[in-house]
Amino acid sequence: MRTRMLLATLAVAAMTEMVSGNALAQPAGYNYDEEKVPDFDLPDPLVTQDGARVKDARTWESKRRPEILELFREHVYGRRPGRPEQMTFEVTSVDDEALGGKAIRKEVTVFFDGTADGPQMSILIYAPRTQEPVPAFLGLNFSGNHSIEDDPEITLNTGWFRNRPDRGYVNHRASEESRGSASSRWPVERIIDRGYALATIYYGDIDPDFDDGFRNGVHAMFYRDEDEKPAADDWGSIATWAWGLSRALDYLETDENVDGERVAVLGHSRLGKTSLWAGAEDERFALVISNDSGCGGAALSRRRFGETVERINTSFPHWFCDNFVQYNGNEDALPVDQHMLIALMAPRPVYIASAVKDVWADPRGEYLSGYYADPVYELLGKQGLPGDSDQLPAVDQPVKTGTIGYHIRSGGHDLAEYDWEQYLDFADLHLKQGR
Ligand code: GCU
Repeated sequence: MRTRMLLATLAVAAMTEMVSGNALAQPAGYNYDEEKVPDFDLPDPLVTQDGARVKDARTWESKRRPEILELFREHVYGRRPGRPEQMTFEVTSVDDEALGGKAIRKEVTVFFDGTADGPQMSILIYAPRTQEPVPAFLGLNFSGNHSIEDDPEITLNTGWFRNRPDRGYVNHRASEESRGSASSRWPVERIIDRGYALATIYYGDIDPDFDDGFRNGVHAMFYRDEDEKPAADDWGSIATWAWGLSRALDYLETDENVDGERVAVLGHSRLGKTSLWAGAEDERFALVISNDSGCGGAALSRRRFGETVERINTSFPHWFCDNFVQYNGNEDALPVDQHMLIALMAPRPVYIASAVKDVWADPRGEYLSGYYADPVYELLGKQGLPGDSDQLPAVDQPVKTGTIGYHIRSGGHDLAEYDWEQYLDFADLHLKQGR
């Protein structure tokens, strides 16, 4: 218990540092030299556990895909429960004249156990004012729904936040000053103008981002007994946030303004790891986007470039399942690597984005997971990654005509307007054309 608390303190310190922008872009003591990347063998996504080669789509779908999904559940992210039977939705506000009249804005509360005082999350939705349901982007945010747009009508989140006094987060609470503080990451008007809806949720509504032994957030619904300890393959926070995204999709499927069959799930950084896992667990997501997701996201773990498995499990002991700790400094023993996570999206479109200065997240490792997932797309009759090269594309030259998209943008670790432009183009290709 004491170890857990010490780790929790360290984790909060590390996160405060990372999120407050004081983080060194390249923490010392990790490898940033391509020459020093060790040799390794990746598990073949197209060879089953019993050694048979997967030669057709049927075997992929009925045997190999479920096998890989189970391996990730067991060893990396942990297992999650299903949709709670008692869950209810309530639309709490609607404005038909948002964004100067071009959008509908609404807020919807999801009551996970059907009671008003149980765990709950609030979805903020913007949709164009059209007759037809439109495709949508769904993504978790770091700073509350009220941070994505400076609009006093958006409910100010009263939950736990990391302190960030320069942006209006003090005593772990959000103040009026924090409204719109993350708007550069959410170009709402542009998304609407391009014909998409946007749905977003504060990730802390689902599970506050610190290690409390799985008591707060939705965990309270599943671990009521103080003595009960989650099993080694139980969901960590990434799996929990991803589960919340599936519950948001449950709602979006019922929303008249959104086409639930055309929802792209997107996330940045730890929330990019989350969007990938959401897309793996829930095949209703029509398109999956990983923005600078790094270690435990798109980056290959065996490269040990930038952040490592050991470092992530130490700084953030609550993100993955406890079994993942076995692979600290022992990446070659992992029965999977992250190219197999990308392969779990197939044949659905997936976009992986990196940034030049975001070396901690290993841009080349992020690209290579797309490259090594490509044979699965080819088997399923799709063009995966165009160009068929294991070399990183040039900076600011997106590769976005295939079913696996990729770019490395100039600049650092962020979700930028440039990233959104590529995602919108990619979504046009896959969620709009031919419809
Ligand atoms: C830290 C962490 C990364 C994570 C990032 C973030 O840098 O080491 O794994 O992606 O925080 O979520 O901002």
